Amino acid sequence: MKRIASSGSSKPGNIAGTVTAADASLADPSLSRAVIDWQKQHGRHALPWQNTRDAYRIWLSEIMLQQTQVAAVIPYYQRFLARFPDLPSLAAASTEEVMAHWSGLGYYSRARNLHRCAQRVCTEYGGVFPADPALLADLPGIGRSTAAAISAFSYGTRAAILDGNVKRVFCRVYGIDAYPGTRPVEELLWRRAEALLPSEGVEAYTQGLMDLGATLCTRSKPSCMVCPLARHCAAYATDRVAQLPVRKPRKAIPEKRAGMLVVMDRGQVLLQQRPDMGIWGGLLSLPEFEVAADDAPDAGPGTLGARIAPHIAPFGTIASYEKLQPFSHGFTHFKLHVLPYRIALARRLHPAGQLDHVWYDIGKLAQAPLPAPVKKLLLALTSEQDLFFQDPVR
Ligand code: ADE
Repeated sequence: MKRIASSGSSKPGNIAGTVTAADASLADPSLSRAVIDWQKQHGRHALPWQNTRDAYRIWLSEIMLQQTQVAAVIPYYQRFLARFPDLPSLAAASTEEVMAHWSGLGYYSRARNLHRCAQRVCTEYGGVFPADPALLADLPGIGRSTAAAISAFSYGTRAAILDGNVKRVFCRVYGIDAYPGTRPVEELLWRRAEALLPSEGVEAYTQGLMDLGATLCTRSKPSCMVCPLARHCAAYATDRVAQLPVRKPRKAIPEKRAGMLVVMDRGQVLLQQRPDMGIWGGLLSLPEFEVAADDAPDAGPGTLGARIAPHIAPFGTIASYEKLQPFSHGFTHFKLHVLPYRIALARRLHPAGQLDHVWYDIGKLAQAPLPAPVKKLLLALTSEQDLFFQDPVR
């Protein structure tokens, strides 16, 4: 069997870094024709990243659109481009500024990879994104499907995409009765995706698959009556559209708890730089302390105060503390229950050697690189207390 280099998310050396060549027996030009014709008539044509061949803009949009819907991406995309209009301006920016422009969009590793990718394209490719999907897929944050989309939209390359929406379309069209997240099913889907590529019009075809997945072949309430693939669709023919794709076998989502400290003093709030890896990596956030699962929600001052005190000691002495409204935030792999406490300082110290902490001006919080729920909490607290908008003391 002939094997070709993959344009895949799997980096070289990984087993899935090679794929079988497109299998001619799986080809079906009538299907790609139907997608292209439908896209031209009914697809989306005025998204902010369309009608351009500028690989920088296309790459940026594809990264933002990973795991995020079009409507949520548009304002971020526009603000990002206004500040970083081209690759050199992004590559030269500070990480903090890049993170600040991503703040609220989630999945922050995308922003760190975006920044690294911009720097690599500048140094390794003279500022021009390569057209070869295999080279694109070797760059940070670009997987096999994203590489194909960037290359197809920027350079017209015949390369297959297979994002979550497209998997759903193919699982229905081919009546695939197995969970598509496993390696063998995914490989089967890639073989289908490669074989279906049209000989011409890959841009409209690629956009058409995305548009179909997002607007007609949706998870719930699909619009089969107007779908251009209805007559090709095994799920439709056998009345299994609601059952396909097969859902991931459910595991209980773990729950975690974190105490957060809101220390405000003279127009500033104490923030801590989060480590690059892990949730909210690279953002600023509130200092945290551990709360045990069996902590009573209003544990007495003795125990709680004693646990909070060491976190505050380098920055001042505690006059009083107050429990704020707890809130929860869902991540892909767990749910985080946040127990925030507001601390009033009796005396502020100017600590030495606490380099990952900063006193941040409250007036600048709206633009700060903070996780969305933390920013929401701080903005709600500060808008309720003009007190904190006094001039900062330096
Ligand atoms: N999702 C991923 N890429 C997209 C694109 N280019 N347009 C619309 N939705 C998308």
